[in-house]
Amino acid sequence: MLERGLHDRRADAHVRQPGQSGTRGRAWQADAVPGRDGRGVPRRERAQPGDAGRDGSPAGIHDREGGSGVSLRDRAVLLTGCTGDIGAAYLDAMTSAGANVVAVDLDDGTELAARASERGPGKAVFQRCDITDDSDVHSAVRAAVERFGGLDAVVNNAAVYRGLGRKRPLEELTLEDWDTVLRVNVRGTWQVIRGALPALRRRGGGRIVNVSSATARMGTAGFAHYVASKAAVEGLTRAAARELGKDGITVNAVSPGLVDDGATRALNDPGYVAAAAGARSLPRDMRPDDLVGALLWLIGPDSGFVSGQTVIVDGGGVFA
Ligand SMILES: NC(=O)c1ccc[n+]([C@@H]2O[C@H](COP(=O)([O-])OP(=O)(O)OC[C@H]3O[C@@H](n4cnc5c(N)ncnc54)[C@H](O)[C@@H]3O)[C@@H](O)[C@H]2O)c1
Repeated sequence: MLERGLHDRRADAHVRQPGQSGTRGRAWQADAVPGRDGRGVPRRERAQPGDAGRDGSPAGIHDREGGSGVSLRDRAVLLTGCTGDIGAAYLDAMTSAGANVVAVDLDDGTELAARASERGPGKAVFQRCDITDDSDVHSAVRAAVERFGGLDAVVNNAAVYRGLGRKRPLEELTLEDWDTVLRVNVRGTWQVIRGALPALRRRGGGRIVNVSSATARMGTAGFAHYVASKAAVEGLTRAAARELGKDGITVNAVSPGLVDDGATRALNDPGYVAAAAGARSLPRDMRPDDLVGALLWLIGPDSGFVSGQTVIVDGGGVFA
């Protein structure tokens, strides 16, 4: 069965179809990644609900040692918001899967990228980039073309999240609060898509993954501007999927639940985070690496006929 699956995939690779983002005349590789050393993936002391052992047993300790099985070898990815905890987890996962990543942020991620490169097998370079500045975006895309020969995928992870500050009733938000969040989270995401398109089209197709938030469905109180921005990201995802499918570009979103990371702890008291964990079907804290499987799938070779979708990763907190 496995043999047949691989055979079929290789055979299919000869015929490019919309949704297959083959570059230089070939489809995304589906070969397995050589063993990884589990770098950057925090190990847990005890099994938690939703964890799976390497044999798939639910009681196993969460451990992606040996790889996710997704190969992004020789693929060039632009990742925004790389210095937050979630962005750093994405960076580590993608370079571990063999991708070469241009990692961008407002904050300095030079060391983060250097460490990811050292661990390999993919390489990472950091570039400072404000996603709301077209010239920054263009130079990030140019960096991918110059360093890695082109661009195959974009992960739009940057957002105003940690910077939201305290929760406030919607009538206390200022016009400036509103405009800042919408400008970065929605307009910036669109600017990165727009800036990356020529390079993606030159490759004959590609993948775009936008990062939404389960708050868009929860309607979480206190962050009306953020919730609205993430709902807009999901709408943008569908519109872009519709427009770009003819170019072989898939556009999807990952929608995380409340992640127990530095940004969340800065914004919420521990009781709130614990209550969110307890309300899940899988009642435990969510960590950045819980998002990695969905991301790798969406930018990898096996999701070529999936577009315009939002994948909620929140331990079964809200349902689509
Ligand atoms: N942490 C959570 O619980 C959670 C839940 C749902 C969704 N998300 C989303 O996941 C993504 C990552 O979240 P995080 O927890 O790492 O948050 P974070 O705030 O730590 O990271 C966001 C990153 O985006 C960068 N950024 C902000 N404005 C930028 C700009 N104009 N140009 C370039 N970079 C900019 C920030 O510097 C930061 O490094 C965000 O899109 C966030 O909305 C997070």
